[in-house]
Amino acid sequence: MSAFPVIKFAAGEEFKKQATVDHIIRELINLGAHKNTFLIGVGGGVVTDITGYVAAVYMRGIQFGLVPTSVLSMVDAAIGGKNGIDVGVYKNMVGTIRQPEFIFYDYSFLETLPVKEWINGFAEIIKHACIKDALLFAVLEKYSLHDYQTDKTLIADLIEKNVEIKSLIVTHDEFEQGERKLLNFGHTIGHAIENLHAIPHGHAVSIGMVAACNLSEQVNGLHFKDAARIVKLLAQYHLPVDVETDHAKVFEVLKMDKKRKDDGVHFILLKSIGNAEIKFISLTDLEKHFKEIV
Ligand SMILES: NC(=O)c1ccc[n+]([C@@H]2O[C@H](COP(=O)([O-])OP(=O)(O)OC[C@H]3O[C@@H](n4cnc5c(N)ncnc54)[C@H](O)[C@@H]3O)[C@@H](O)[C@H]2O)c1
Ligand SMILES: [Zn+2]
Repeated sequence: MSAFPVIKFAAGEEFKKQATVDHIIRELINLGAHKNTFLIGVGGGVVTDITGYVAAVYMRGIQFGLVPTSVLSMVDAAIGGKNGIDVGVYKNMVGTIRQPEFIFYDYSFLETLPVKEWINGFAEIIKHACIKDALLFAVLEKYSLHDYQTDKTLIADLIEKNVEIKSLIVTHDEFEQGERKLLNFGHTIGHAIENLHAIPHGHAVSIGMVAACNLSEQVNGLHFKDAARIVKLLAQYHLPVDVETDHAKVFEVLKMDKKRKDDGVHFILLKSIGNAEIKFISLTDLEKHFKEIV
């Protein structure tokens, strides 16, 4: 046994569920974990989400720290305190908001990360640039995924910048009353497509961002001119920018989205690259434009 007892579980989103939480809790009890036990989650977003959740409920809360090992968990999942599990098809249905004592970054973990997981992570990085940082967007345009995979300084700087962007948003609005909602850019239509097509989250968010750009064009008229630049950047990082889909079905799923209010949906749209806004779009208006945006 290593100096610290280790609890393991199988990889994959399908294990981000209550049964895994029960397994970890039973292990903690077997190990004699108590109120002052410190839990450390080492892994991708599934591990960081479950660690935060178990730490929130075990003995009504113990301290925890996170060691993210995927690009996505480094720039997104480990930051901000949201944790939780899926219930069947309902993603992140159960969870709490609770901050870790620390997040520890070691970029050498990324040496073993499969390329498809790198691509997933870059969808959220491009999202951060779109909603908050035109300069970061321009930096991303200059490089390729391969550059980031092979240059440690480049990837370290990029991850630090993204940690800064997400942390700042979360510090201003921990409980998602306003600004934190901007992080949902690409996720409304993205989630609907992810559910229907069972494609990776980053791919779905990429398609969702393109749809949100098209919607931004419709809503903000001639003022928004950056859609083509965003599509080009997503493709540059090997992300899909469209999908053959059943529009009626996507629209049905969208109507049931948990962010839906009354007879419309709150969308995150762009005024320009780096400048996002929350806009309420009625279901009638959305339906009118739907075929042109997805
Ligand atoms: N809490 C939040 O705010 C938040 C934000 C975004 C995403 N998330 C959650 O994060 C999860 C997705 O995270 P993810 O993309 O990291 O997925 P993941 O945790 O499933 O990791 C993806 C795959 O990469 C493997 N892996 C991780 N690090 C590795 C490494 N260094 N070397 C080799 N393989 C490695 C994992 O075992 C897994 O097979 C989703 O459940 C999502 O809901 C949470
Ligand atoms: Zn996401």
